[in-house]
Amino acid sequence: MRRRKVIIDCDPGIDDSLALMLALSMEELEVTGITIVCGNGPVDMGFSNAKKILQRLGRLDIPICKGAEKPLKREYVSALDTHGADALGESFLAEVPGYEQPIDAVEFMARELLKGDCSVIALGPMTNLAHLIEQQPEAFARVEELVSMGGNFRSHGNCSPVAEYNYWADPDGAALVYRTMADLGKKIHMVGLDVTRRIVLTPDLLEYLKRLDGELGEFVQAITKFYFDFHWQWEHLIGCVINDPLAVAYFADRTLCEGFEAYTEIETGGISIGQSVVDAEGFYRKRANGVILTRTDPLRFFKMFFGRLLKVDEQELDLLEKLVRS
Ligand code: RIB
Ligand code: CA
Repeated sequence: MRRRKVIIDCDPGIDDSLALMLALSMEELEVTGITIVCGNGPVDMGFSNAKKILQRLGRLDIPICKGAEKPLKREYVSALDTHGADALGESFLAEVPGYEQPIDAVEFMARELLKGDCSVIALGPMTNLAHLIEQQPEAFARVEELVSMGGNFRSHGNCSPVAEYNYWADPDGAALVYRTMADLGKKIHMVGLDVTRRIVLTPDLLEYLKRLDGELGEFVQAITKFYFDFHWQWEHLIGCVINDPLAVAYFADRTLCEGFEAYTEIETGGISIGQSVVDAEGFYRKRANGVILTRTDPLRFFKMFFGRLLKVDEQELDLLEKLVRS
């Protein structure tokens, strides 16, 4: 099996951290590096949290390169209200000293993409990718596949009635990426809220994880408790939506999500700033630049997620049939 080379561009972040744990448990992926963008937390906080996750996994061999400290044009607006003061659920894990890399996120992305056969999974605002397009467009053009957790089609936004955080936080960055993919005749895979809202980590699922592996379960509980409280406070949801791991799972197994191809632009101003405007009906008569995912199977996702994190065969996880919210 050819291991697929991938860069994970992220803003860890509670669900980003779960996504990193999933990606690094997958034999079929070769995570060549992690690039950090300002998003859920400031870029230095994201760098610090990525180190904590990699140290826990014994994978500090993987470079983590810092990127944008602010969006392309908008003022930076964090999501610390959702992810906690440390952007890791106020778990306040011990800092991992040092580990600064000699190159920044854009230089790292350019170097890896120019080698060829390398994809990107973007789990935060797409500011780093936008800077790469501005500074080294020939490197961006080499991206094998681009999967983005972001946007929404028919599902309502989480930052406004129509906008999802990653695209709302840096709409100009997202718009440039979508425009450039259109110019290149390529398609970005939009793993948006229409599918990620189906992926709910519930207290029962967390308890099951703890029963199967106490240490892992306690760690996941430590970084998600704040997120559970946020979802109860703001959505009266008992559980938490873990968006980013679905993008990683979909990258590894395309059959996890279904959708359609469409031309898509990102609104960069006005009341609907950050909205992913999906031309599902073909009004603009433009070639599709997006694969818009609209359906997924939460049970299949959690079988993959638990199976990989626990390193067990999915067949052993029979209780998931009863626990996963359909
Ligand atoms: O809207 C959800 C997305 O914004 C997730 O990637 C979350 O981590 C935040 O970055
Ligand atoms: Ca994220």
